[in-house]
Amino acid sequence: MTSHIDTTLSLFFALATSNFTSINILFFFSLVFIIKCFFHCKSTIPGPTPLPIIGSMHLMSGLAHRKIAAAAQSCRANRLMAFSLGETRVIVTCSPDVAKDILNSSAFADRPVKESAYRLMFNRAIGFAPYGVYWRTLRRIAATHLFCPKQIKVSEGQRMVVSNQMVEMLTFLLHQQTSICVRDVLKRASLSNMMWSVFGRRYRLDSNDLESVELRKLVDEGYELLGILNWTDHLPWLADFDPQGIRSRCSKLVPKVNQFVKKIIDQHRAHPSPQLNADFTDVLLSLEGSDKLLEADMIAVLWEMIFRGTDTVAVLIEWILARLVLHVDVQSKVHEELDRVVGRSSQVMESDINNLEYLGAVVKEVLRLHPPGPLLSWARLAITDTTIDGHDVGAGTMAMVNMWAISRDPEIWKDPLEFQPERFLDGSLKDMSVMGSDLRLAPFGSGRRSCPGKNLGMTTVSFWVASLLQEFEFGTCEGVDLSEELKLSCEMANPLKVTLRPRRRPHCVCEA
Ligand code: HEM
Repeated sequence: MTSHIDTTLSLFFALATSNFTSINILFFFSLVFIIKCFFHCKSTIPGPTPLPIIGSMHLMSGLAHRKIAAAAQSCRANRLMAFSLGETRVIVTCSPDVAKDILNSSAFADRPVKESAYRLMFNRAIGFAPYGVYWRTLRRIAATHLFCPKQIKVSEGQRMVVSNQMVEMLTFLLHQQTSICVRDVLKRASLSNMMWSVFGRRYRLDSNDLESVELRKLVDEGYELLGILNWTDHLPWLADFDPQGIRSRCSKLVPKVNQFVKKIIDQHRAHPSPQLNADFTDVLLSLEGSDKLLEADMIAVLWEMIFRGTDTVAVLIEWILARLVLHVDVQSKVHEELDRVVGRSSQVMESDINNLEYLGAVVKEVLRLHPPGPLLSWARLAITDTTIDGHDVGAGTMAMVNMWAISRDPEIWKDPLEFQPERFLDGSLKDMSVMGSDLRLAPFGSGRRSCPGKNLGMTTVSFWVASLLQEFEFGTCEGVDLSEELKLSCEMANPLKVTLRPRRRPHCVCEA
C-alpha cells in the first residue's frame, strides 16, 4: 500500500515539476491531500485477501506460525500484517521493533476472550483475567509467593528430589527398553514439581497414585481444549451449535477440576502447613483484607499454575534433548563443561548453573529455534484505539507477535537455521537476555503481561537438563524428527526416543 502511495506521489511530483507554476503547485498539493485522505480512510496495513465470512481462518490452523510468516512475506508485511478471523480483526508482526511497541504498550495489556478459557475459569486466573485491579492483585500475590528469587531458592531442594527421581526412572527404563520415550518422564516430573509447589503434594514419579493420574488427565484435557482454534470465538453466530463440541467438553471438565482442587483446599483448611513449608494453597488461604480471594477464584488460580507450569517446561526440555542427540559435538561440549565445572563424580547443584556458560547458550539457542510459544502462546487485545508502527489500530483488535519468525529472520540472525549455541558465547549476543528486554529473542513475551514464571521456568529447565546430562549420554537408534505440532505449546510432532549410557556411577534401580 505504501509503495502505491509513493508511486502516485512521484507521478504527480513529475507532472507538477514539468511545468512549475503556482497553479500546478496548488493542484499538486490538493491531489496529494486527497490521495492521502483516500488511503488513510482505508486500512493501510497490508494483508492477505480474506475469504468471505471466515476471513483468513486457514492461517490459524496447523502450524500457524509458519503459515503467518509465509503470508507476511508474500504480502511484504513483515513489520505489520492485518487479517481477519471471521469477525475478529487481527494484526501480527514479525519485527522486533513493532513487537516491542505492541507488547509494551498499555493499550495491549488485555487478552482476547476465548470461550474455552472463559469456561475453564481462566478469566479468573492470571493469564486471561481482564487487565485491571483483580489481575494486578493476582500478579502481585504470585510474584511475592511463587516467583520471587527467595521463593525459587526455597524450592531448590524440591527440584533436586524430582530430578533424582527422573534419573532413577530413566535408569529403570534403560534396563527394560533400548529406546526410551522421554516425554512421559518429563511430563511426570514437571507435574510432580508443580503439585508440590502448589498443593504441597509429594509423589514419586513412578507411582501411579490415583490423585496424580487424575490430575494428569485433567491437565491434558484442559491443555487440548485451550489449544484448539474455536470457530465460535470468531464466528459468534455459530455459538449456539457448539460445532466442535468444545463447550460440552469444557462443561464436563470444569466440575471435575472444581471437585479435585476444592478437596485439596478443604484439606489445607483443616490442616494448615507450618509457615516454613507453606505451599501456594496455604499462601492463598492466608491472605487477608482486599487480597483475600473467593474460593472459586482460588480454584482458578491454583489450577492455572499447575496447568501453565507443567507442559511448557516438559516441552522445552524435550526440544533441548532432541537437539543434543542430533548435534553430538554440542552434547560432548556440554559434557566437557560439566566435567570441568562440576566434576564427573559430583552431583550438579543449582548453584552450578551460572557457571555452565555453554549449557546456557544451548538453552538460548533452543529457545531461538523452538520457542514453546511461537506466537507467544496467548495473544493480546487492544483495550483502546491506538497507533502501531504509524497505523491506526482500533480497540478490540487482537495482536500477535510471531516470535518464531523473528528468531529465524536472516536480517537479524547470521545463519538463522543453523544450530549454533556458540553465537551466544561472544560478540554482541554474549549477554543477550531472553527475559523480554530484547525483542529479537523474547520467548517469554515482554511488558506487563510477560510470563511471570520465566525465572522459575528457566531455573527448572537449566537445572534438570544439566542433571540429566551429568548422568547420561543421550543417543538414538531411531533418528530425530524435528517436525512440529502446534497445540497450546509447539511440541515435537513425533516424541523423542533416546538411548541412554550412564556416565557417572551405577544407579540404583527403582521399584516398578
Ligand atoms: C519454559 C517455560 C515457559 C515459557 C516458554 C512460557 C512462555 C509464556 C509466554 C510466551 C507467555 C505470554 C507472554 C506475553 O503475553 O507477553 C506466558 C504467560 C504466562 N505464563 Fe509462562 N512460560 C513458561 C513457564 C511458566 C511457568 C513455570 C509458569 C507458572 C508456574 C507460567 C505462568 C504463566 C502465566 C500465569 C502467564 C500469563 C501472564 C499474564 O497474562 O499476566 N509460565 N508464558
